[in-house]
Amino acid sequence: MPKKERIVGVDLGTTKVAAIIAEVDSDDLKVVGVGSTASHGLKRGVINNLEKAVESIQKAVNEASRMSGFKVDACYAGISGSHIESINAHAMIATSRAGGVITKRDIERVIEQAQAIALPLDREIIHAIPIEYIVDNERGIKDPVGMSGVKLEAEVHIVTAAIASAQNIYTALERAGLKVKDLVLQPLASSYSVLQPDEIDLGVCLLDIGGGTTDLAIFYDGAIRHTEVIPLGGEYITNDIAIGIRTPYKQAETIKKKYSTLSLAPEEKKDEIKVAGIGGREDRFISKENLYSIVSPRVEEILMITNKAVKKSGFADVLAAGVVITGGTARLQGLAKLAEEITNLPVKIGIPKRLGGLTDIILDPIYATGVGLVLYGHEKKNQTLIKKTKGGGVFDALKKRFEDWFSKYF
Ligand SMILES: Nc1ncnc2c1ncn2[C@@H]1O[C@H](COP(=O)(O)OP(=O)(O)OP(=O)(O)O)[C@@H](O)[C@H]1O
Ligand SMILES: [Mg+2]
Repeated sequence: MPKKERIVGVDLGTTKVAAIIAEVDSDDLKVVGVGSTASHGLKRGVINNLEKAVESIQKAVNEASRMSGFKVDACYAGISGSHIESINAHAMIATSRAGGVITKRDIERVIEQAQAIALPLDREIIHAIPIEYIVDNERGIKDPVGMSGVKLEAEVHIVTAAIASAQNIYTALERAGLKVKDLVLQPLASSYSVLQPDEIDLGVCLLDIGGGTTDLAIFYDGAIRHTEVIPLGGEYITNDIAIGIRTPYKQAETIKKKYSTLSLAPEEKKDEIKVAGIGGREDRFISKENLYSIVSPRVEEILMITNKAVKKSGFADVLAAGVVITGGTARLQGLAKLAEEITNLPVKIGIPKRLGGLTDIILDPIYATGVGLVLYGHEKKNQTLIKKTKGGGVFDALKKRFEDWFSKYF
């Protein structure tokens, strides 16, 4: 019997590392292993202690491996952090044969050309995703292969990362025994697991509110248009609870998960929550209203900053499918309603789509990125990944322009 193909996603989050192993079963995906462990050595999406990060990865991956009975040696991994930047670039080439048919090679060339941006030495391109093609001034073409035309243009969404941050992820995973097949921007990965194709067509904003960061990705007319990482997440809320009710972070985290809500009914306001005494001190009690008065302004702040970013992106008016919120903080009761009030858009909570296998475990917004990485890997495995560029590309850019000019006229 031929060996079944397996795809592995490793989501290196600020608060947890999740490893998902899926088996490709006649083109369907079946989740066969899930491992999740508290992550150490990461802050706001960026590795700050390599050794601890390696240990966390090993723990999550070993758990998933044991569950599935398979050894894991390669994965798709997520990347996030405020070092991430994105731009939409435009490129133009003369097609290979005048008046001829546009080939796959032409597509590769125009996307390579779009990547020929002046990139600082310390940055690299992690994604170059075509938004649309323009053939002889005809806009809005999704797949021009086979069409006739002499001039091919492309709008390409380019995501760049700090080389050092990306390299640390490669190193951590390699030391944990995993080859990295591709580094994927976390909200892009999450979009594969929580968004429907019609939402991507209509216009939608995906928000992954995790522990350390809120990752934003805007999709419209079938393509990604804007990405941004906001360095605030659930840890920000927990920190304030810890300060507000004077309790250690760990206990504040437990209280947040167990009792916090953004839709507090009037009759619940005076309900009491026990705050266990530390170091021999007596137990204390706080009211639900007290907790609400700490949590709610922090969440509002995160949503307001996000809303500003959406408005600034220029896509706020085309989001007919509204906002989809995922990530662990999406579990916060009443979040969708509050987000609707702030953004004035319909909001829903994004749960990873149902796959075969261990479905019950992964139907949780904390697994949006991990499951998305597997789905991304499944979709990309048959496509040639477009060559990515590292910094210092100005010379390459000029060289490419010259080559293009040369192939057009000679
Ligand atoms: N029931 C809950 N109510 C409120 N917050 C919750 C709940 N469950 C989890 N969280 C919060 O979700 C956050 C973790 O989410 P997630 O696992 O998506 O983050 P991460 O991927 O580790 O971090 P990041 O993506 O920011 O790097 C934590 O801050 C946690 O407190
Ligand atoms: Mg995350």
